[in-house]
Amino acid sequence: MRIENNYSVKPHNTFGINQITKLFIEYCSADELKELIKSKKLEQPFFHIGAGSNLLFVDDYEGTLLHSAICYIHPIKETQDEVWVSVGAGTCWDDFVAHCVEKEWYGAENLSLIPGEVGSAAVQNIGAYGVEVKDFLVSLKAINLLTGEEREFSNAECQYDYRYSCFKQPEMKIWAVVEVTFKLSKQPTFNLTYKGLLNELGEQPCTLKRLRKAVIDLRDSKLPDYKVLGNAGSFFTNPVVDAEKLNELLQQYPDMPHFAFKEGKTKLSGGWLIQMCGWKGRNVGDAAVYEKQALVLINKGVATGREVYDLSERIIDDVQQQFGVKLYREVNVIGKNGLQ
Ligand code: EPU
Repeated sequence: MRIENNYSVKPHNTFGINQITKLFIEYCSADELKELIKSKKLEQPFFHIGAGSNLLFVDDYEGTLLHSAICYIHPIKETQDEVWVSVGAGTCWDDFVAHCVEKEWYGAENLSLIPGEVGSAAVQNIGAYGVEVKDFLVSLKAINLLTGEEREFSNAECQYDYRYSCFKQPEMKIWAVVEVTFKLSKQPTFNLTYKGLLNELGEQPCTLKRLRKAVIDLRDSKLPDYKVLGNAGSFFTNPVVDAEKLNELLQQYPDMPHFAFKEGKTKLSGGWLIQMCGWKGRNVGDAAVYEKQALVLINKGVATGREVYDLSERIIDDVQQQFGVKLYREVNVIGKNGLQ
């Protein structure tokens, strides 16, 4: 177990924001975490992070940041057609995807190169190019950080939705995911519903390795590398509107991109709305809107979390004013008392 006092979070967030946490605790196994809880050394407030690829620190944090270093990939069951794999929550997400591709297990490849760790991928229901984690997640194990109780949650119990699980509810923040079990196919099955993916693949027949490479090339062409330009991927979720609002908008903007969602609702493109407000490529100091993808905010150098946050507020206000649509942050904003 690693314990640090008054510790900089800079290596733990992909925005590259330099704030201090009062305490940082990293544990290496579920047993170590249970010991910590039993010893009563884990005091509230606490906040559990993954690789910090979906976080914005706007202040020093006056609590304990917890991080899992539980890293393993264990196949636990296999049939002729499928394999069940249990993965430690601290495992790098893309290491897991690369492992699946190497073993010729199908299902995770569209989620190649997404920054982050397996535990937070399950909490956030990460998604890209027509696939979401919920599509091949069987269950997860989590530990109650107040009592030390370990519990299994089935896929249905996680209540998955677009970038949502029950673990996003404030009262569920007491659960730390320690292991996630996925089911992958051993038979070739590809999801090529995202148009750009077919273009990227070209004429060649699809294979797992080619699809992974196409996803990586597509991401590289649209999304900034956080090691070069601090960012947390999409800063906002794509807004969802009802039929009435959609019709109103389409009358004024017939070319507006929109995608069928569920229950008669429609997903709009947040990037397009932001671009139409003139924000694409613009900056306020070192906080900026990425020039190739307006849904992504970047730190061009020494932006503070507060500056990035203020920029996001201006964008939300402008989109609300021009389109009457509310943008919600996908990124978790952490202030001095935790999640805001
Ligand atoms: N668009 C614009 N201007 C922009 C950006 C997008 O007009 O600056 C329009 C274009 O019409 C484009 C459409 O929006 O065709 C969709 O854009 P894109 O395919 O880049 O996807 P997105 O909706 O902006 C979502 C996810 C991404 C994921 C991609 C691909 C969310 C919040 N974001 O972005 O996920 O990689 O689809 O599946 O749903 C992330 O969550 O961090 C993330 C990067």
